[in-house]
Amino acid sequence: MQLKEKIDQLLDEARKIRLQSLEEAEQYRIRLLGRKGELNDLFEEFKQVEPAFKKEIGQALNQLKNAIQEAVQKAKDECGTQNGPKDMDDLDLSRPVDGRIGHRHPLSQVREEIYRIFGKTGFDISDGPEIEDDWHVFTALNFSADHPARDMQDTFFIERTGSTKDVLLRTHTSSVQIRSMMNRSLPIRTLCPGRVYRNEAVSARAHCFFHQVEGLYVDKGVSFADLHDTLLYFAREMFGSDTRIRLRPSYFPFTEPSAEMDIACTICGGKGCTLCKGTGWVEILGCGMVDPNVLENCQIDPGQYSGFAFGMGVERIANLLYRVNDLRLFSENDRRFLAQF
Ligand code: PHE
Repeated sequence: MQLKEKIDQLLDEARKIRLQSLEEAEQYRIRLLGRKGELNDLFEEFKQVEPAFKKEIGQALNQLKNAIQEAVQKAKDECGTQNGPKDMDDLDLSRPVDGRIGHRHPLSQVREEIYRIFGKTGFDISDGPEIEDDWHVFTALNFSADHPARDMQDTFFIERTGSTKDVLLRTHTSSVQIRSMMNRSLPIRTLCPGRVYRNEAVSARAHCFFHQVEGLYVDKGVSFADLHDTLLYFAREMFGSDTRIRLRPSYFPFTEPSAEMDIACTICGGKGCTLCKGTGWVEILGCGMVDPNVLENCQIDPGQYSGFAFGMGVERIANLLYRVNDLRLFSENDRRFLAQF
């Protein structure tokens, strides 16, 4: 077969071919344009062409090469879009989204509502690491050396040296309060949200991780009355304007005095039911006045400054608002659950 005929035949094929997949396109490209491909053979033959025909045949060869490249590119464009943008130049992350796609996770919705409520009274938001050292999670917070929370059964240790340099997964975001007091100037009014870890067997009522929002206010003259009124305002914004609260004496190493806050049961309104175990009250957070030792550990003079702190579990608040009876649902990403919020 003459060189020109071969070229015409392949040109015809290139114009008609419908490559169905990326693999097919690649095989075709290798067969024709590869190092040992047919086009190279044709260019070899082209060397022997008489000078009078060189121009015509040369043009035909280039035409063929372009047609093959076009066929391959077309297949890549068409098949490539099935799996996302065909190349990175087409990816526009700033493009406005049409309509609403997806929605916020219930825990994010509750957390944002907590931000909104405390934001109105001047609280900002602080961040800190989930992998922490003993000093920020326990020692600075006035935990004694033999406190049970330091035990392997409660805390996930990453590295144990037996000193304040132990590396662990934080068990509460009070560690972020310490970081705020160490790094920021006074007064401080901040929320410390984040994921925390405890070595618990996973069940409907307990998980090895959950989410907290803690809060800290340090200034001159901060009193227990300020704590009470701030939390009453929070409870009424969160659970309704007629919500009643009560503070029960409690103990935390880092607050003195310490309290736990209950709200009147959201189901029975205080009469007594299974949710509140007949008491009419459900616990929602721990709180107290920052212990002077903690202020001192953070180089704050307890003679001049005082503060209050509180901490709540986001899952617990969400359970009360939405009556979710199994904690595991929040982290399983089951669409049937998530689509309800
Ligand atoms: N850190 C406590 C916890 O994880 C909560 C808390 C925070 C209590 C601040 C009092 C003051 O349970």
